[in-house]
Order: sequence, then C-alpha cells, then structure tokens
Amino acid sequence: MTAFIGPSGCGKSTLLRCLNRMNDLIDGVRSEGSLRVNGEDLYGADVDVVDVRKRLGMVFQKSNPFPKSIFENVVYGLRIQGERNRTRLRDACEAALKGAALWDEVKDRLDDSALSLSGGQMQRLCIARALAVEPEVVLMDEPCSALDPIATAKIEELIFSLKDRFTIVIVTHNMQQAARVSEETGFFMLGKLVEFDKTDVIFTRPRQKMTEDYITGRFG
Ligand SMILES: Nc1ncnc2c1ncn2[C@@H]1O[C@H](COP(=O)(O)OP(=O)(O)OP(=O)(O)O)[C@@H](O)[C@H]1O
Ligand SMILES: [Mg+2]
Repeated sequence: MTAFIGPSGCGKSTLLRCLNRMNDLIDGVRSEGSLRVNGEDLYGADVDVVDVRKRLGMVFQKSNPFPKSIFENVVYGLRIQGERNRTRLRDACEAALKGAALWDEVKDRLDDSALSLSGGQMQRLCIARALAVEPEVVLMDEPCSALDPIATAKIEELIFSLKDRFTIVIVTHNMQQAARVSEETGFFMLGKLVEFDKTDVIFTRPRQKMTEDYITGRFG
C-alpha cells in the first residue's frame, strides 16, 4: 500500500488519475513517458483503456453511487462485462459487500436505492463496486475526507483489511492516516515527486528538508 501526500495542488490526484488513464477523458491532455504495471506499459499502443480501468479500480473523494439499487451499483461493472447469470451476480454482490464491510448493514435491503444510505455506507458501497470486478489495484483519492471521524475509522479499518488482497494507492491529506495505513509514501510538491520511501522513513527521518518541513507542519 502506497500513500501520496503533499500540499493542495501538488499533483497527487493527477498522478493517481494517470494510473488508470482517467486523464485521457480531459480535452487537450498530453502525456509523455511510460507507466508500467507489472512490467506492462499502460500507455502502450495496443492497450485497451477499458481493460486498464477494470484492472485499476478507483474510489473518489466524494462517494458517487449511481441512482440505482444497492445491488445494481455493486454488480454494475460485471454487467458491463456482460455477466447475466443471476446466481453469479448475487454471489459476486455478496462477496464484494462483505469485502467492503457493508454486507451486514444492507443484506436485507439490496433492492433499496443506494442513495438512501448514509455517507459512510455510500463510500463503502463505492468500494464494493470497485472490488466486484476484482481489480489488481485500487486507487483511492481522499476516500475519507467527506466523512465524520467514526465513518472514517470504519473505512480505514476496511482499507487495512483489503491490503492483503489488493495493491492500494491512496491520496490523503491526513498524515496520521498515511502513517497508519501505508507501507510506502511519496511526498509531492509543485508537480514533482520530492521523496519516496518506506512510510516510517518519510515520517521519522526523511532525507529532504522539504519533506521534513511538510510533515512537521511547517507549511502545507
Ligand atoms: N506534473 C504536473 N505538471 C504540470 N501541472 C500539473 C502536474 N500535476 C498536476 N498539475 C496541475 O496542477 C493542478 C492541481 O493538480 P491536482 O488536482 O492533481 O492536485 P492535488 O495534489 O490532487 O490537490 P488537492 O490536494 O487539492 O486535491 C491541476 O490543474 C493539474 O492539472
Ligand atoms: Mg486531489
């Protein structure tokens, strides 16, 4: 699990969005170089963008459930992939909701609108939706910043439990969160990666003065 930290506007979300080619959707976007996942360049000529977005799922700052039932939200990606088998959809839905620590709260109301859930539940639903297609990597852009401390603690615990199964990249403004949940941390500043290291190194003995100033709260 990797955390991206740095002051507002330093390019954390932009880099995260490069990882599943979301920036492609922006008019006039230009990119250079290569970006490899397990050795494969995601910007290579014969890469299927839809496949990239399936393999690298994304969870956003503000939860964004579709105005559909809880069930349909979770199985959305599978339906797009052409899955029609009712039993397989049900099983996948249950597994994803269990994985997102939401099953017990919603198992009796799967046909209710997703919009009837609380903020924290909606965010866990979005995590379930990302998990349902079994991505290799889960990208999370400030997944807790719109939530209260209790919902945040729940999501953090959930993220922690997902670490064994998925590679996770998380953008966070919350230093305690970065230090608590990640193994590696990248510190960004003005569009550049200043320092990347094991999380405990970044937080206890960073090499760069800029990193130290940021994590000790001298700016940012
Ligand atoms: N490497 C870069 N070179 C040039 N411009 C960049 C670069 N990275 C990001 N930008 C631009 O900087 C602006 C802020 O980037 P971005 O939204 O990624 O920041 P952020 O770190 O996620 O900020 P916040 O913490 O507020 O969400 C955007 O307009 C983006 O296009
Ligand atoms: Mg951002």
